[in-house]
Amino acid sequence: MDNRPVGVYDSGLGGLTVWRELRRALPGESLLYLGDGKNCPYGARPREEVRRLACQAVDYLIAQGCKLVVVACNTATAAAIDFLRERYPDIPLVGMEPAVKPACLHTRSGVVGVLATERSLDGELFRRTAARYGRGIEVVTAPGKGFVELVESDREATPEAEECVRRAMAGMLERGADQIVLGCTHYPFLMPVFERIVAGRDVTIIDPSPAVARRTAQLLDQYGLRAAPDHPPTYEFRTFADEAYRERLRAKAFADADTPAAR
Ligand code: DGL
Repeated sequence: MDNRPVGVYDSGLGGLTVWRELRRALPGESLLYLGDGKNCPYGARPREEVRRLACQAVDYLIAQGCKLVVVACNTATAAAIDFLRERYPDIPLVGMEPAVKPACLHTRSGVVGVLATERSLDGELFRRTAARYGRGIEVVTAPGKGFVELVESDREATPEAEECVRRAMAGMLERGADQIVLGCTHYPFLMPVFERIVAGRDVTIIDPSPAVARRTAQLLDQYGLRAAPDHPPTYEFRTFADEAYRERLRAKAFADADTPAAR
């Protein structure tokens, strides 16, 4: 039994989509969320810089005593997860994998769409995953240009968001994609917009965060790291930005955690 918190890290607010799944799947675990905030968005930054930022963040969470860290950011995972695993061989680390595998298994049209940041799409991790599972399947990718900025400024429910998402998805829908993978943890906050756009079509939008929560649970069991059954969980929020941003993290986590629209 181990009552130390599980660390959850993202460039900003996006990792809260993973945080809420972790909270749901692991109600006995304390969670320490770090949303960088100061350097967000990461999506168009050079790989080396993202790696440096990811290291700084994971160093911080481990120094705070986290027993396991979830890198709830596809961009940071793609740039740094191998490096982080070497740096922390004794701490289990969970990264984001683009959900290309389930998409390829379930597609009927043979066309799968992936939305992610520019940096994730040109990364080795994505290329490897697409090559492994996408054989014989057309994988159409598009960067979610402006999506992160919309979420970071609470503009998900605006005509501008609708326009921006419609533009990014047009190509993959035209090609006949029937599975669309959300390859950035900010994007599930735009779920109501995605759902409106694909309404009436036989298209599934895949949010990988429940699978990440399941993987975290498995690793806690494997390493004997579960919290004691009588442990009251705590939820803390930290940032490299300012106090106002920290408050936004907390507010968004709890505002969206239980609403069906946010699922
Ligand atoms: N939420 C992040 C991801 O999953 C990063 C977005 C960004 O900072 O550009 O890729």
